[in-house]
Formats: sequence, C-alpha cells, structure tokens
Amino acid sequence: MKIAIILGTRPEIIKMSPIIRECEKQGLEYYILHTGQHYSYEMDKIFFEQLKLPPAKYNLDVGSDLHGKQTAKMLAGIEEILIKDRPDAVLVQGDTNTVLAGALAASKLKIKIGHVEAGLRSFDRTMPEETNRIIADHTSDYLFAPTENSKRYLLNEGISHDKIFVTGNTVVDAAYQNLEISRDRADILKELGLTEKEYFVATAHRAENVDSKERLAGILNGFSQIYKEFGLPIIFPAHPRTVKMIGEFGFKVPEGSILIEPLGYLEFLQLESGAKLVFTDSGGVQEEACVLRIPCVTLRDNTERPETVDVGANLIAGCGEKIIYCTRKMIKSDCEWEKLYGNGNAAELTLSKLRCDNSVQK
Ligand code: UD1
Ligand code: UDP
Repeated sequence: MKIAIILGTRPEIIKMSPIIRECEKQGLEYYILHTGQHYSYEMDKIFFEQLKLPPAKYNLDVGSDLHGKQTAKMLAGIEEILIKDRPDAVLVQGDTNTVLAGALAASKLKIKIGHVEAGLRSFDRTMPEETNRIIADHTSDYLFAPTENSKRYLLNEGISHDKIFVTGNTVVDAAYQNLEISRDRADILKELGLTEKEYFVATAHRAENVDSKERLAGILNGFSQIYKEFGLPIIFPAHPRTVKMIGEFGFKVPEGSILIEPLGYLEFLQLESGAKLVFTDSGGVQEEACVLRIPCVTLRDNTERPETVDVGANLIAGCGEKIIYCTRKMIKSDCEWEKLYGNGNAAELTLSKLRCDNSVQK
C-alpha cells in the first residue's frame, strides 16, 4: 500500500506529524505532498525541523492568492503528481484549501481518500473552512472522526456508517509526543521573562476576525480590558495575516499585549501549557488547550469544536464585550473537565484502519 500525505499549512504539518511517524514505524510506503499554502520559515519549515519530519517529496509552492486561484493551482499540481506517482490512498487533514484541493484531485482520479479530522461542523457557511470540510467529507472513503459527536454529524448528512471511524484527534498524539521535549528544549518562558500561570496567551488569524476592522479592534480592545482587570501580560504570537492587518488598519497593540513572531511548535506548547488562560480563534489551539487543561476563551461567534464547550473547557466569546465576562468565568475553572479527543493513538488507529481494508491493501 502506498499513501500520499497531502498537507500545506502549519496545523496540517503538526497534526499529520504523528501519522508520518507512524508510517515510518510501521514501514509503510508513503510520500509527503506539500502544496506550499504556507511557506514562511516560521509557518512551515520550522515544524519539519522541530518534529524531525522527512522533507516533502513534492512541493507545489503555490503560495498565497485568492481562494479560487490558490485552490486551482493546487488542484492542477496535485492531479499531475497523483497521476505520475499514483498512491493507493491519499490522506488529507482538517479544512484548509489544501484539503479541498487534495480531496477533489484524488476523487477525480478515483483514488481512495482518508479525511483525518472528519465531521467537524460550525454550521457557518460564511467560513471558507466549512465548505472545505463538507466537500472533503463527502468525497472521502474513510472518515476519521475525532469524537462521537462528529460521527453523528456525518451520519445526519447521510454518510454511510461503515465509512466512519472514531479515532480521536492526532492533536493529542502530537501534544503527548512533544510536551516533555518542549519542556526540556524550549526556553520561551525564560526568554520572555515569564512565570508559569502569570500570563495569558493569545492567537488570532481567522479571516472573518482579522480582515474585519471592527472585529480586530474588538479583540484588541478586549485584551486591553483584560490587562486592566488582571494585570497579567498577554503574549500574542501573531500569524503573518494578523500582523499585516494590524499594520493596514493602523492599529496600536494595547498596553499589556506583547506581539511576537509566530513560534515553533515546541516553544508554543511550552508557552500554552504554562498559561493561565488562552484566547484564540484557532481550531487547533481550542483542542490543545482542552488537552493541556488550560481554560480557553474562543474569539469567535461559533465553534466546530462544541465538545470543548460542553465539557467546560472553552467559552465562546466573540470579539466584543463578552471577552471579559467569559474570562472572569473561565479563570475560575478547576480544569477538571472530561478528557476529549482520545488517548494519543489516533494516528495508529487511522493507519490500522487503512491497512486492514483489502481494497486499499496491496
Ligand atoms: C489558512 C487556512 C485556515 C487555517 C490557517 C492555519 C484556508 C482557507 N485557510 O489560513 O483554515 O486555520 O491556514 O494557520 O485554507 N502568509 C504568510 N506566510 C505564510 C502563509 C501566509 O505571510 O507562510 C500571509 C499572507 O499574507 C497570506 C495570509 O497570510 O495572504 C493568509 O494566508 P492563507 O494561507 O491564505 O490563509 P491563512 O489565514 O493562513
Ligand atoms: N502554533 C504554533 N505556533 C504558534 C501558534 C500556533 O506552533 O505561534 C500551533 C499550535 O500549537 C496548534 C496549531 O499551530 O497546534 C494551530 O494552527 P493554526 O492556529 O494556525 O490553525 P487552525 O488550527 O486554526 O487551523
């Protein structure tokens, strides 16, 4: 069996890393196809280095563009490679344009598709990610759902029971595999002069937040109020998109917020796991905070990770007044919520499912 692992952005590299490691461990034939959706060193190569991943066999270098153009370039590039180096199955992860292009290209070539992190739904069709994940799910042959809740969403959309496998989320595998290493090797707390539990961490990059003047202003204003009330610094490793938009809107970073470059995974894990609370609009960070038992306040109006809210690990604050109320509430959490997203063996379960399917296995 030959597997093509298609990835292109920061979270896909992180969440595919346990699957790549597992392929190596099991001696499976595989290759990595990188679309180049993310390309800056701190959004791409640093993760290959820190997670000790083999280099991608192919890199399409598509870069940033309008969604249609970017996805079209990926689709054409992936198709060409899948024809030339035909795998028995492709694996895509999550909900980015890379996932959409990968699933579509494989579907046209009648190559089996495994969607890792299937069945997430925000029920918000204005998000590009919602379209991407729905199309990926409906073209896939193997839907690796992180929770029973995701499985239910898929069943409700008419996807056949026998295509869905609840595996947990590889975000847990990655966190478990790297937490100790990050505590030993990363030095970010020292570098920033921080003490555990005496700072907040923030990330924000969603188009609907940072491309909107009003919403981005609401987030920065929220951080300003948080600093006034709690007196703890907010460490904000900002996505390049966010840095660009703060500049374009001419915003000033409020007192108490410390804007820094995006961090490597080891540094980010160390920072996140020592935080008093996390503010984020990231999908992966909502999950990780839950796994690391750090209270989370989500800077969005909805989430495709409602399980984190159900167990009490997360509150949905939006980008205005509610940020401060949600923080007051979450900061009191005892962090004893029910465990979500599996035991850290999602990659192993995913590959064993693929391997035991005779139509893929050769
Ligand atoms: C993409 C995904 C989003 C995911 C996020 C992970 C889509 C539709 N969006 O959003 O779901 O949560 O990745 O981080 O697929 N840029 C750089 N260097 C890079 C990459 C981007 O400077 O390596 C800047 C460029 O100005 C670019 C902007 O960031 O225009 C946005 O990049 P893009 O890949 O379009 O979307 P993300 O916001 O990264
Ligand atoms: N992350 C990182 N450095 C940072 C911010 C985040 O390594 O400065 C990691 C984080 O640990 C998580 C992932 O990036 O695993 C989340 O990616 P992102 O927020 O870009 O995308 P999303 O999960 O929203 O798709």
